[in-house]
Amino acid sequence: MTEFGNPFDLTGRVAIITGGAGLLGEQHARAIASAGGIPVLVDIQQQRASEKAAILSKEYGVEAIGCSADITKQAEIELLRAEIIARFGRLDILINNAANNPKMEADSEVNFSRLENFPLTQWDADIAVGLTGAFLCSKVFGSYMAGSAGGVIINIASDLALIAPDQRIYRQPGVPEHMQPVKPVTYSVVKSALLGLTRYLASYWAGNNVRVNAISPGGVYNEQPEDFVARLTNLIPLGRMAALDEYQGAILFLCSDASSYMTGANLVVDGGRSCW
Ligand SMILES: NC(=O)c1ccc[n+]([C@@H]2O[C@H](COP(=O)([O-])OP(=O)(O)OC[C@H]3O[C@@H](n4cnc5c(N)ncnc54)[C@H](O)[C@@H]3O)[C@@H](O)[C@H]2O)c1
Repeated sequence: MTEFGNPFDLTGRVAIITGGAGLLGEQHARAIASAGGIPVLVDIQQQRASEKAAILSKEYGVEAIGCSADITKQAEIELLRAEIIARFGRLDILINNAANNPKMEADSEVNFSRLENFPLTQWDADIAVGLTGAFLCSKVFGSYMAGSAGGVIINIASDLALIAPDQRIYRQPGVPEHMQPVKPVTYSVVKSALLGLTRYLASYWAGNNVRVNAISPGGVYNEQPEDFVARLTNLIPLGRMAALDEYQGAILFLCSDASSYMTGANLVVDGGRSCW
């Protein structure tokens, strides 16, 4: 905690957000920009990332850029690091946010989300983005921070890092049992593993002024079908899904000096779902 001034202030700090073109990536970027930081939105969808960065830059009056990189490829991440350092001369924050969005519908005769049918190729692809991508970004960007002024890493986990998915909420009427949609196994595995990565990195770089924490968000309301929302909210003590901007406070807290004595922790922001 700084002795004087606002401990939430991020003026001039450069923050990489993977999956920055996505639904929550933009929200994380808003949290950074609102505190004066410089969001770098990294995504395989560069155009969307750049468009969002331009909007943020205008709205908040800060620098913001969109960059293209596939976080499953170390060479691309290293190139990105060189670009960022050349442009800003610093790197302060990494938010490991990118993930594959699991598909739960049936494809013709087979529902590939079900464990019995889950393809190894899909397992590899989901682990590659959600877990290996977080490892590679931490390795490349975190090592830089550890070797310079330090910094902050946040891993975006999920309430499903703490509890098993309640597959009953995904059921669809009239669909035979073997075709019922489920949350794929990779979601639980990736999110649980991110908590392990968080603790490992936090202790590994504790002496290098790099703090590493996780956030476990619950589901965000995004116009999901009414019956699904009803079944899910029934499992949440606060009785509703999160609004799109409701993780900004947690992001800002963990990115800034306001959380200066926190590392290796998992901040659960799930409307109470995992306490029930
Ligand atoms: N939306 C929710 O309700 C919710 C709830 C809990 C946790 N989360 C987690 O929050 C994070 C963001 O979720 P979201 O809803 O914004 O997802 P999203 O699908 O909208 O965004 C994910 C982004 O990651 C990008 N991406 C995918 N593969 C990539 C790669 N190889 N390299 C670079 N970028 C890549 C995609 O292009 C996309 O823009 C995820 O980790 C998700 O699991 C989301």
